[in-house]
Amino acid sequence: MSPPIQVLDIPDHLRPFADDVLDGLSKAQKELSCKYFYDQRGSELFNVICELDEYYPTRTETALLETHGAEIAEILGPGVCLIEYGCGSLVKTRCLLDAMQDPALFIPIDISEDHLIRSAKALADDYQDLKVIPVVADFTDPVEFPEEAKKDCTGKRVGFFPGSTIGNFERDRAVQFLKVVAGQVGEGGGLLVGADLKKDENVLIRAYDDSEGITAAFNFNVMERINKELGGDFDISGFRHLARYNREHGRVEMHLLSLKEQTAKILGRAFRFREGETIHTENSHKYTLEEFRDLAQAAGFSTVKTWVDEDDLFSVHYLTVD
Ligand code: AVI
Repeated sequence: MSPPIQVLDIPDHLRPFADDVLDGLSKAQKELSCKYFYDQRGSELFNVICELDEYYPTRTETALLETHGAEIAEILGPGVCLIEYGCGSLVKTRCLLDAMQDPALFIPIDISEDHLIRSAKALADDYQDLKVIPVVADFTDPVEFPEEAKKDCTGKRVGFFPGSTIGNFERDRAVQFLKVVAGQVGEGGGLLVGADLKKDENVLIRAYDDSEGITAAFNFNVMERINKELGGDFDISGFRHLARYNREHGRVEMHLLSLKEQTAKILGRAFRFREGETIHTENSHKYTLEEFRDLAQAAGFSTVKTWVDEDDLFSVHYLTVD
């Protein structure tokens, strides 16, 4: 009988990370969840990515929100309760709020408490008439709608999910998430959501493998976290960043590719890598407008209006609950 695997003691807050890492690296196709990119350093790297020439989604979506802000505001109407799923830099939120007619309430939902509270406070300081109620939670879980929010909202409940983060979910998970949103905004409510479009594969690959190596550093950050937080001994220089387009699934995939045969130890467990073997770290699904409408419909949403830039790079959709 083989000796029991010894998993070293780790603090409780690291347990979910440790379990996911040990589980993901035990699969035939090794994988790590892209949610672990986003510690302080990962979030900073992501902000740098958003400014890169090659990474077109952020500036294209922001321009769409600016250009069509008045029309979006008209469709949303006054007294809206805006719910943002995940709380990034809030640049796009500000852009939307500036266009909106008298928004009543803003509810950002994010798992990272410090960042959420800081961002929510800064926003509340700048929008004195807007009530801001941050909710600390995993936004993919059904979140109880704050009681005090019910009475303050005279208009629609509208979700906001920019950045094509929806593309980071597998299709089934995306539908599941949209159903949660539909339940939260209720009948007559809506969702303003950004979705990256299918396009020339070279443009896509450049966006995920930039010339300055920022996306590579972002990808490697998950390995750095394993070494730092879980005491792993990955030889980072023994891997390289790989971005490839998977045509069958219509997605850009990020991987960390092993440059040699090697072993990494994490929490007392050894993981062997063949030369050329990869750890799959992220999916970023790209949609046609029709595919995205079908996805929304599968979750009980109808598409009211879609905005696309003139180069057909990115789409913003306003969906309502049927
Ligand atoms: C957050 N998410 C929508 C980004 C994307 O494009 O999938 C994350 C990212 N990964 C590499 N670059 C940016």
